[in-house]
Amino acid sequence: MIGEEIEVLYEVDSTNEFLKRNYKSFHDGAIVVAIKQTAGKGRMGRSWYSPEGGLWYSVLFKPKIHINLHVYTKIFSIAIVEVLRKLKIKAYIKWPNDIYYNGKKLCGILSEAVSVNDRVVAIIVGIGLNVNNDIPEELKDVAVSVKDILRKKVKITYLLDSINKHAWNILVNYRNETENITKLWKRYLVPKEGDILKVKADDEIVEGKVLKISDDILYVDVGGKVIGVQSIHQLVE
Ligand code: BTN
Repeated sequence: MIGEEIEVLYEVDSTNEFLKRNYKSFHDGAIVVAIKQTAGKGRMGRSWYSPEGGLWYSVLFKPKIHINLHVYTKIFSIAIVEVLRKLKIKAYIKWPNDIYYNGKKLCGILSEAVSVNDRVVAIIVGIGLNVNNDIPEELKDVAVSVKDILRKKVKITYLLDSINKHAWNILVNYRNETENITKLWKRYLVPKEGDILKVKADDEIVEGKVLKISDDILYVDVGGKVIGVQSIHQLVE
């Protein structure tokens, strides 16, 4: 189960960092939730603003068999989108694993592995979902919260519980069929294969057609030349 063991901290630097330091004291499936983070981390070395009111938490896995890190990230992105859709929020996954609503970011996921002597001993999936927190003025064009979309506050514990239950069901049902997890992920993914989009390549913005989507590279045909997009910063709205 996910979340049977739960540690709630009023304030911590980052729930991912906390679990990296303390993973030995927790069981597989344990979660650490913070009311606020003082040094929340985003992907690619960015920081993650985490005031009171949001859902900031990390899940610990201690896998006995090797499962790719991307699989965990995908499972949570699918679970979060499906839980939000039950609340009538038409969320989608923006490649590779951000959760968006109407062009604005609602949730980010940061998965990390802890290795000892080249063996993965812990997987930490960190989830940051804007729920009842206020989005600062300077981020209002790019980020949104559940409260802003529904125009009312939502119980954070309900979201936490539903996401964990749903992610667990996906993990148990599909852990040996990761191609089905990828299929499900692609259902909610934007862009899709065949879409025309703008990408930044060599500091130039060019139009291209998405040929193939992989976990960490988007192959785009730009005037007959295939380029690999490696970060969402290369995608232009
Ligand atoms: C991103 O989109 O860049 C990923 C953001 C992940 C934020 C969450 S909040 C809980 C956990 N602790 C962290 O420091 N980061 C993740």
